[in-house]
Amino acid sequence: MAPGGGHLALAGLCKDYGVGDPAVDRLDLEIGRGEFVALLGPSGCGKTTTLRMIAGLVEPTAGRILLDGDDLTAKPTHRRNIGMVFQNYALFPHMSVADNVAFGLEMRGIAKAEARSRVAEALGLVRLGGLEARRPKALSGGQQQRVALARALVIRPDLLLLDEPLSNLDAKLREEMRGEIREIQRRLGITTVFVTHDQAEALALADRIAVMERGRLAQLGSPEEIYERPATPFVARFVGRVNALAAEAGADGRLRIGGALLSVREPAPPGARATVMVRPQHIQLGSSGGTLSGHVTGVTYIGDVVQIAVAGDGFALTAERGTADPSWRGLAAGQAVSVGWPPDSARVFPETADGR
Ligand SMILES: Nc1ncnc2c1ncn2[C@@H]1O[C@H](COP(=O)(O)OP(=O)(O)O)[C@@H](O)[C@H]1O
Ligand SMILES: [Mg+2]
Repeated sequence: MAPGGGHLALAGLCKDYGVGDPAVDRLDLEIGRGEFVALLGPSGCGKTTTLRMIAGLVEPTAGRILLDGDDLTAKPTHRRNIGMVFQNYALFPHMSVADNVAFGLEMRGIAKAEARSRVAEALGLVRLGGLEARRPKALSGGQQQRVALARALVIRPDLLLLDEPLSNLDAKLREEMRGEIREIQRRLGITTVFVTHDQAEALALADRIAVMERGRLAQLGSPEEIYERPATPFVARFVGRVNALAAEAGADGRLRIGGALLSVREPAPPGARATVMVRPQHIQLGSSGGTLSGHVTGVTYIGDVVQIAVAGDGFALTAERGTADPSWRGLAAGQAVSVGWPPDSARVFPETADGR
């Protein structure tokens, strides 16, 4: 089931539906052959619109879509060799599993005998062998989504597009299926764009993540780059939990909260306001020697981690510890603590004129 092509380029891609701000605004994105890229962002940021433009289901207002250098922009959907999977499965209810999967092959005029063997191969790939004769309504949600995946793969697409394919499944199955999707994608080496609003899903699945904010690309990078070195406060907040501390730079450019000098690597323009962002697992708590002084306001046990809320003069933040780490056991609300973090773990975002 070797896919044919795969290098995808979006250049200045725009979609304006004519109501409100553009849904997609000058999007540039290059995706390598065999790469798995997640489009990640909150609801309404333009993920589905982007995917549907790539598929040829929505016409761009401006910009180009290139696949292996070939301009797809004006090509109708059925002439783009693209497999697509939707959140709601979109299976034909009156057709058997086998006929659903064979549909794209029939459209392409593939001979019956070959179609039958390719359908069997695709159903084997998604571990649904033996269910060929079933109707979709006699399958579980997870099985229906496997049928949809088989239907997308059976045409040997140059590109696989998935729009929140796991959102209708329960948490356990979602994790299981994301592993399977990644395994199949690697095995076939198929270039894949996966849309999700779930940061954990994007981190777990993707080679690279494209974070979108209001129709624009906020950051493109590996999961680790996105998480460890977010380009904007929006990305830092959207991907993982983070503490945002409002600070002000003195004449020397060193950042302070109240009188306390913060431990950060990056200087800020003298006198500027800035947001200092630190992940909860980097927050150190002790009896002395930290940057800030405060007191514990709450200890919340949530299974794999414990969250320790701390507040002080001009700040409030949350630290996290793995529950296996015994250091949180002595902490209780009201207790005085000294708060710090390794300078490298803090990101500084100077406040710009427009307040973003
Ligand atoms: N057919 C449409 N007509 C008008 N506006 C639309 C249409 N489809 C989407 N939009 C708007 O475009 C923006 C992006 O939507 P969408 O691409 O569905 O975002 P996402 O998939 O990230 O949730 C939203 O503001 C949405 O309301
Ligand atoms: Mg969507």
